[in-house]
Amino acid sequence: MTEAKRIREANGKLGVLMPGMGAVATTLIAGVEIMKKGLAEPVGSLSQMGTIRLGKRTEERVPKIKDFVPLAPMDGLVFGGWDAFPDDAYEAAAHAGVLHKDHLNAVHDELRAVKPFPAVFNPGYVARINATHKKEYDSLREAAEQVREDIRSFESQNDLERAVMVNCASTEAYAQPQKAHFDLDEFEKALERSDASISPAMIYAYAALKEGVPYANGAPSLAADIPALVELADNAGVPVAGKDFKTGQTLMKTIVAPGLKARMLGMEGWYSTNILGNRDGEVLDDEKSLKSKEVSKLSVLESILDPEKNPELYGNISHVVKINYYPPRGDAKEGWDNIDIFGWLGYPMQIKINFLARDSILAAPIVLDLALFMDLAHRAGMSGIQEWLSFYFKSPMTLPELYPENDLFIQQIKLKNTLRAFMGEDLITHLGLDYYE
Ligand SMILES: NC(=O)c1ccc[n+]([C@@H]2O[C@H](COP(=O)([O-])OP(=O)(O)OC[C@H]3O[C@@H](n4cnc5c(N)ncnc54)[C@H](O)[C@@H]3O)[C@@H](O)[C@H]2O)c1
Repeated sequence: MTEAKRIREANGKLGVLMPGMGAVATTLIAGVEIMKKGLAEPVGSLSQMGTIRLGKRTEERVPKIKDFVPLAPMDGLVFGGWDAFPDDAYEAAAHAGVLHKDHLNAVHDELRAVKPFPAVFNPGYVARINATHKKEYDSLREAAEQVREDIRSFESQNDLERAVMVNCASTEAYAQPQKAHFDLDEFEKALERSDASISPAMIYAYAALKEGVPYANGAPSLAADIPALVELADNAGVPVAGKDFKTGQTLMKTIVAPGLKARMLGMEGWYSTNILGNRDGEVLDDEKSLKSKEVSKLSVLESILDPEKNPELYGNISHVVKINYYPPRGDAKEGWDNIDIFGWLGYPMQIKINFLARDSILAAPIVLDLALFMDLAHRAGMSGIQEWLSFYFKSPMTLPELYPENDLFIQQIKLKNTLRAFMGEDLITHLGLDYYE
C-alpha cells in the first residue's frame, strides 16, 4: 500500500461558480436541484454512480467512488456565475430549451434564485453575442479585481467553505499563447495596459486562481492553459484542468479509435460532421470561434493512433471535422462519422456512427464531476495541472514536454489510480499473474 494523502474534510458548503450560465450550466443546476429532492439519479456522473475496485479481485471490495473518497456532498453545492445576459437560471434554462417544463418547474424557486453577475465581455472574442449584462472598467486589471470581488461576496453571502470555478462560457475566438501569456509578471503588466491578447476567459481564470479557487475550463477557449496562469496555479497551490468537455462526437472518437488501434486495424480517414442549433452552435457559426472548437476536436486522433510508430496503418489519415449551425435542432445535436478502415491484405471497410445526442445532457454530469474532483484535489494538497482529469476533456492540459493521453480507457485508469493513490490503496496494474502462482 502507498501512503494516503492527508485530505482536508469536505465540511460546509461548496460554491460552484460558472462563467457562462447558458445551456450546460443551467442543465447542471436544474439537475442537481432535482436530485437534491430525490427526483432523479445522477446518470452520467462517474463521481456519483461509478464504482472503484480496490485490492485483489478475490477481495471483492468495489465501493462507489463517492463512498471511497471524501467528496463534497451534492446537498452542499451552491451555484453562481456570470453571464452576458441578466436572465436568472430559470429564464436561461427555459431559453436553452434543454429540459422539459416539468423538470424546470420542479425546481422553479431554486433556479430563480441563481442570478448571474455581469460578465467581463469583449466582442472581439465572442462576435455573435450582443451582451446586455457586462461590467464597466477602465483596465483589464480592474475587470479582474471586480471578478475577484464577486467571488468573495458570493462566498460570504452564501456562507461557503470553499469554491471551484468551471468555465461554461461561449467559445472564444481562436488564440495562441503570445508574449503577454508567457509569464505571470508579463501577464499582470498586460492586464494593467489592457492588452488585447488577454481574453475574458483568462480574466476569470486569473481571478479564480488569485482567490485560491480551483479552475477547470469546459470551453475550448485559451484560458488557464497559458504558462502565466499555470505559474500562478503552481505558486498559489491551486489545481487547474482543461479543456473543452468531452461529450458527444469526440467521446465516441476516443472510445472507438483505441479499439481499432488495439486490433491493429488501419485507417485511411475519419470524416466527422455535426449539426447543432443552440446558442453554442450560433457562437460557433463565427469563423474565429469555430476554429477554437475545430482545433480542439482534431487533436485527439493523432495522439491515440500515433502515426509515427505505425506509419503503415495510420501514416496517411485524412481527418476532417465539420460543424454547422442548424437552428431547428436546438440542443439536440446530430453527429455523423464515417470511418474508412482497412484490414488483412489492405481490404477496405467502413464504419458509420450516427449519434443523436443531447449536448447539455452529456455535459452537465461532467461539470458536476469536475467541480467535485477539483475540490477534492485542492483539499488533498494538489496544485497546478491535474492531468488525471483528462478523462473529461477533448484537449487535456499536460506539462509542455508531455503528449496528452486521449484514450478514454487509459484516462479512466489514470483517474481511478489517482483516487486509489489519494487514499493509500494499491494501484491496479491488471497484471493478475499472482492469482495463478
Ligand atoms: N454542451 C456540450 O456538449 C459541450 C461540450 C464541450 C464544450 N462545451 C462548451 O461549453 C460552453 C457552454 O456551452 P453551452 O451549450 O452552455 O453554450 P450557451 O451558449 O448556451 O452558454 C454560454 C453562455 O456564456 C455566456 N457568455 C458568453 N460570453 C461570456 C463572458 N465573457 N462571460 C460570461 N458569460 C459569457 C453566454 O451569454 C451564454 O449564456 C461552450 O464554450 C461550449 O463550446 C459544451
